[in-house]
This record gives sequence, structure tokens and C-alpha cells, in this order.
Amino acid sequence: MKILIIGTGYVGTTTGLIFCELGHKVTGLDLDEQKIQALKAGKLHFYEPGLEPLLKKHIEAHNITFTKDTETAIKENDLIFICVGTPQGTDGSADLTFVKNVAKSIGQNLNQYKVIVTKSTVPVGTAELLTRVIKDNQTAPVPFDVVSNPEFLREGSALHDALHPDRIVIGTTSETARTIMRELYKDLHCPIIETHPKASEMIKYAANSFLALKISYINELARVCDKLSINVHDVSNGIGLDHRINPHFLKAGMGYGGSCFPKDVNALIHTAKQQGTPLLILEAVVKVNAEQPVYVIEKIKQALGGEVQNKTIAVLGLSFKANTDDTRESPSFILIDRLLEEQAIIKTHDPMVKSGASHQCMTIAETVAGADALVICTDWDEYKNLDWAGLKSLMNQPYIIDGRNMLDKEILEGVGFQYFGIANQ
Ligand code: UGA
Repeated sequence: MKILIIGTGYVGTTTGLIFCELGHKVTGLDLDEQKIQALKAGKLHFYEPGLEPLLKKHIEAHNITFTKDTETAIKENDLIFICVGTPQGTDGSADLTFVKNVAKSIGQNLNQYKVIVTKSTVPVGTAELLTRVIKDNQTAPVPFDVVSNPEFLREGSALHDALHPDRIVIGTTSETARTIMRELYKDLHCPIIETHPKASEMIKYAANSFLALKISYINELARVCDKLSINVHDVSNGIGLDHRINPHFLKAGMGYGGSCFPKDVNALIHTAKQQGTPLLILEAVVKVNAEQPVYVIEKIKQALGGEVQNKTIAVLGLSFKANTDDTRESPSFILIDRLLEEQAIIKTHDPMVKSGASHQCMTIAETVAGADALVICTDWDEYKNLDWAGLKSLMNQPYIIDGRNMLDKEILEGVGFQYFGIANQ
């Protein structure tokens, strides 16, 4: 099949390359000249393990091309995936400006039957809205179908997730479009949910919100466990082995961040409010999540005798999770901003993120030198097995606050650190 991907961001580029892997020909369309030039040269404008070699492979095999030419790209492809951003609007709702602009262009250039698919996370009712926008912009009555086909891949493990999905959701009322979508995914072996576009759109928000809920649940529970000297790991394991609960997304830590959970939970809350049926559980999820970095700061204060003013804090990890350079809604920055407000002296490190901030150091040793406390904010593998004795000798005071519960408390205490985790007894 000839597939057009509109929007060569994180989701679009990954989706396009997965379709190349599945044997299709793909065109990536973007209005950003720099992105197009970089992609043509085989360079990604974001970090995602394993993706750049795949990009180079499919460019060389002529399976993927990139262009800025909207008109030709739309006319020459049968299947169009909309993968543009849906940022959070000022009222918490998803901003559909980019999606609507794309629909307008599709309408203006529709020359034969096409299936138009939304991969972007879009509110319930967007498939209907896009159908109207496309119809309003058509110059001739060419038939088309709009399908909702949400993406469930995670940053940092995008390739694996996209090639081994738990399920594929296809939301359409058209039998023709459904058949084309089934054919597209025929080599991926997983259950396929075929449903109404509105249900498909809701599934995406409901999935992200449920995962966010699990994280806030375990984070809030961890605070009680801390008080009662209970190891929250054991509690996660103990409940996670119940297959009705499952062990995933039960890791207590700094709170969830990234470009999806914070925005999507808010958007669903907004949709529900509009319907006069507020989602009180999700409102609590957001509140608990906002408190979690503050809880970690309390741990720092506990270590340092109550005050962070003029204390040097070494922050390891800036990305919102490991294996990505994405810092959107990263709990690290919430923590750093709060600490700076309270006049702490901050030094930071991240293996992938180059923030350009004056407090960022090149090496871990440089970051911890003279520090009164070291805080782990991102669960990068390379922070797991450091030369702890060597690092301790560089620090002013031997305090470690493990915001991700990723370190071995016994090893750290063995070399003389005082360790503070999130109910990591
Ligand atoms: C999330 C979903 O997991 C994907 O299924 C979805 O496709 C994607 O959003 C999206 O809508 O595009 P992502 O934002 O890449 O993926 O990251 P996650 O791995 O879900 O992690 C989100 C946040 O939760 C991170 O800050 C992570 O550190 C935190 N987290 C995750 C925890 O604090 N504890 C856990 O147990 C799991």
C-alpha cells in the first residue's frame, strides 16, 4: 500500500518506519523544512533507541521518502495517516488546530477514494469533525472514509511496542475502510478491536488515564507505606501478581511526566466536564501526581535537616523517563524549579538531554562534586552501578534521595551513604 504520514514527529516517524517494516511504501510529509532535510539525510530530530538505523535502512531501500509538497503527497497516496501534534489548550482541552489544517488540505486535494486515519490522540468526536472539514473543502464529491486508529507505543521502546502491540483498535463505520485497515496490519499478530470511531477515540484516553491512575495510586500508597515502614516494592509485587491487577505501572517514583499522560488525563477530564459528568477519580490522579515531586523535596529536606537554601543538590536525570531525550512535563524540572525557588544550588546531569542550562555538568563526577545531596530523578540504566564510594568521596555530605527506587540501598549504606527512597525500606 502507498501510505502518507502527515507529521514527522515522534509518532509519525515511528509509525512510518513500522509500515516500511511491514512491506509498505511510505511518504513522510511535514511543513518543517529542517525536519525534512534531516530525515532525508537519515537523521532523527529526537532520540529513540533503534530508530535511526531503521530510518537509514528504509531510505536506502527506497521504502520511505520525505517531502514538503502537500498537494502531490496527498494525491499520490491511498492511505493517509494524520500524526500531527494535539497540544494542550489553555482550558485543558486538546488543541485541534493542526489536525483541522491537515483535514482542510486533504479535502482540497482529494482526487480519488482514500482512507484518512487519525493516529494523533484526539478527543471523542474528532473523526466526525474531520469528515465535515474534509467535505467542506472538497472541490469535487470524491468519496473517502475517516478511521480512528490510536497509537499505544511508548517513547524509549517505540519499535518494540509498535511491532508487538497488545491490540490494534480500528474505529470506523465503513466496511471498505475496515477491510483496508485489516489488510494493512495483517502481519501483526494481536487482537483487533473493531468499533465506532468515538469508542476508539475514548479507548486511547481511557488507556492512558488508567495507567496514570495506577501510578498515582501506588505513589499515594507509597507515602502511607513510608509512614508505616513498609517496602512499597513488596506491595506492588504482592498486588501485581494478581492477574486482575497486573504488575505494570505500579512503580512508585517521581510521578508521571511526558507528552502524553499529563495532557491526555487533562483532556479527558475536560471532555467529561463538558458532558456534565466530572471524573473525580482522574481529578485526584492529577492532584496526587502534582504532589509527588514535592514529596521527593520533603525527603531532601529531611536528609538536610529541614532547609535546602544554599545547599548544593546534584540532580541525576532530566528526561521524563529513561531512554528518551524528551523533557516535556518531566518531574525533574518541577523539582529543580521548586528547589531553585527555595534558593538551593543546583547541578544537573543527563546522558541524553542537553538542556543548555548553566547548571548542567558533563560528567556525573562533576555533578556530585561538593554536593550536599544527590537526587536520582530519571531511571537511566547508567545510574544503577556507579562507583558509589568514589562519588561519595567527592560530595560534601553523604545523602542520596532515590526518586525512582532504582538503587540498592544496602550497597549505598555499605559505602557510608544515608539512603532515602520512596517507601524503599
Ligand atoms: C504513554 C503510554 O504508555 C503509551 O501506551 C502511549 O502510546 C503514549 O503514552 C502516548 O499516548 O503516545 P509514554 O508517555 O512514552 O507512553 O511513557 P510511559 O512509559 O507510559 O511513562 C509515562 C510516565 O509514567 C513516565 O514519567 C514514567 O516514568 C512514569 N511511570 C511509568 C511511573 O512513574 N511508574 C510506572 O510504573 C510506569
